[in-house]
Amino acid sequence: MFSKRKDTPQIDPLQRELYEHARKRVIQKKRLFNHFIVFVVGSIFFVVLNLIFGLGAEVTFFGAKWSFIAIICWGFLFVLHFCNVWLFHSFMGQEWTDRQMERLIVKQKEEIALIQRDVDLMYPKEELIKKKEEFIKAKQPVTIEEKKKPKQIITMIAAAGENNALGKDNDLVWHLPDDFKRFKQLTTGHHIIMGRKTFESFPKLLPNRVHIVISRNKDYQAEGVIVVQTMEEALEKSKSDTNPFIIGGGEIYTLGLEYANCIELTRVHGEFEADAFFPEFDAEVWELVKEEFHDKDEKHQYPFTYLTYKKK
Ligand SMILES: NC(=O)c1ccc[n+]([C@@H]2O[C@H](COP(=O)([O-])OP(=O)(O)OC[C@H]3O[C@@H](n4cnc5c(N)ncnc54)[C@H](OP(=O)(O)O)[C@@H]3O)[C@@H](O)[C@H]2O)c1
Repeated sequence: MFSKRKDTPQIDPLQRELYEHARKRVIQKKRLFNHFIVFVVGSIFFVVLNLIFGLGAEVTFFGAKWSFIAIICWGFLFVLHFCNVWLFHSFMGQEWTDRQMERLIVKQKEEIALIQRDVDLMYPKEELIKKKEEFIKAKQPVTIEEKKKPKQIITMIAAAGENNALGKDNDLVWHLPDDFKRFKQLTTGHHIIMGRKTFESFPKLLPNRVHIVISRNKDYQAEGVIVVQTMEEALEKSKSDTNPFIIGGGEIYTLGLEYANCIELTRVHGEFEADAFFPEFDAEVWELVKEEFHDKDEKHQYPFTYLTYKKK
């Protein structure tokens, strides 16, 4: 009535072997139990025959009744059987155990190869190596020199009189073409951060520089510039630049002193009337690393000195 399905699933050979093993083990235990029963009943039987019915009462070995000798010999065989089943497990043989172990190892190797293949597919080897290198690099202790070395040089660039004067009525109070040239040379290609007033003192945008203007007025807008409300925001916008410049004026230099790690100061030798001033800065914090004097001439009404300070 029922036809045998052709696609009956095959039993996994390993499962089958395990099942066979369990089955043989049950048989072994059963045999041992039977052995025990036969041994106990047989021993009683021998004792009854020999001692009660006197069968073979005259047969002795070294003075002991034959029934006791038989029980001792049988007992020895029973103990041996017990040990084989429970202690040495030798009923399946060492060969069987080794074969099982080998199969297990092969199976594990196959599984590892499959996992490795999946990992290789998910993460290409080059990417893993790169990530590992990045991880090792990140874990490496930072040397004192590296710690001291700033990742970004934030420079305040200014020209100030002996009395720190910067300008008056939103304009400069001197004309020093070489200082302008130096300013242009240093800042070109970089972000320049300035206050709204300084920005408005320019006749036009300075070419090849990213202008960032700080104003408290959230609605302030000007073409070609990035307007921000804080110095932190201005520096955030300059993150991609390794050397952004804070270019003034007085209020913004005061804000920038905390963040800058370099000052390029042109000290103009003279006292000037002004309404914007460069902030006082601590000689304990700032170290003069370079100075270069420029005398007055037909193009420069005042002598001046380029001073480079680095934050200690
Ligand atoms: N000698 C030099 O090297 C040099 C360089 C640059 C400028 N200057 C001179 O300096 C003078 C201008 O300097 P200044 O001090 O008057 O003005 P400024 O620093 O250029 O700009 C001041 C403006 O910046 C904004 N601001 C200031 N602090 C702020 C804060 N904490 N948060 C948000 N916004 C803030 C405000 O804009 P809002 O009013 O829009 O809110 C403020 O009015 C001019 O005379 C200029 O020629 C000289």
